[in-house]
Amino acid sequence: MTPRKDLLDIASLTDEEIQFVLDNAVPFKDLFKRSVKKVPTLKGQTVLPLFYEASTRTRSSFEVAATRLSADIIQFDVDSSSVTKGESVLDTVETLEAMKVDYIVVRHKQSGIPNLIARNTRASVINAGDGFHAHPTQALLDAFTIKETVSSVIGRKVVIVGDIKHSRVARSTSLILRRLGMKVAYLAPGSLMPRDVPDEVKVLNTWDELWAWQPEIIYLLRVQMERQREPFFPSVSEYHKVYGMTDDRLARARAEGLYVMHPGPVNRGVELTDNVMTYERSLINQQVENGIAVRMSVLYWLRPGAGVEA
Ligand code: CP
Repeated sequence: MTPRKDLLDIASLTDEEIQFVLDNAVPFKDLFKRSVKKVPTLKGQTVLPLFYEASTRTRSSFEVAATRLSADIIQFDVDSSSVTKGESVLDTVETLEAMKVDYIVVRHKQSGIPNLIARNTRASVINAGDGFHAHPTQALLDAFTIKETVSSVIGRKVVIVGDIKHSRVARSTSLILRRLGMKVAYLAPGSLMPRDVPDEVKVLNTWDELWAWQPEIIYLLRVQMERQREPFFPSVSEYHKVYGMTDDRLARARAEGLYVMHPGPVNRGVELTDNVMTYERSLINQQVENGIAVRMSVLYWLRPGAGVEA
């Protein structure tokens, strides 16, 4: 396989590369059962999380992954950096480039910023979420979690429910699941359904249609209030009643043996009832744990400087 410098989205990955990352996450996850959870793979390498947007799971997961690979992590807090004095993204990156960091993990509210950074550094750039565009490591960990849970993924049905329009997770996860041979449907209010739904994605309008489609996995999304300039539905309680996973819908999911996923953070009482968090077929905590193994696999796979002329 040709070495790759950056991970920017799912669309640019080959099937072989997706399989490589998923396969190599398995031994990394096995490592978590040992008393010593660390390997020397990235000893002497530096990883820099560059988060222009808030994150709990992705940032800490990359930091744990890098630590378990014995890399050094440079802490960079955008809010207390010269970014607050107006320093541009590229000037920040040029400064970091001079420090010879090996991996930059970027989250930014604007789509395309990780690509811009990747073109201007020898370091490997990993997109940790950019605007509405992509969140490739979330997609990889979601795929890994489903593969680990069901024996064969071909033909399995996953319905993604919620704020699809503003969701980079929906775009990336939907794509990787379809690349792996799964069937994907979307359920959202019309105002939160994107205009560019891929032809192969089934559009559902109600939970009755969802049950009739017979999915095996219900993937709930957070309503991203911070990305909405005007209200997209009358009220939170109305949204919960019409589109959320209520206690009644959870009871039906339980009766039918369906799995529930969510990328986090969750909004209790909006897209889901509290009881989803303790549901025996909720894969939410498994997604978080698998995020570390998958991100270890990504860091192991990428080659800083690959394809860049000396
Ligand atoms: N899933 C996800 O991206 O969560 P964070 O925003 O907490 O990183």
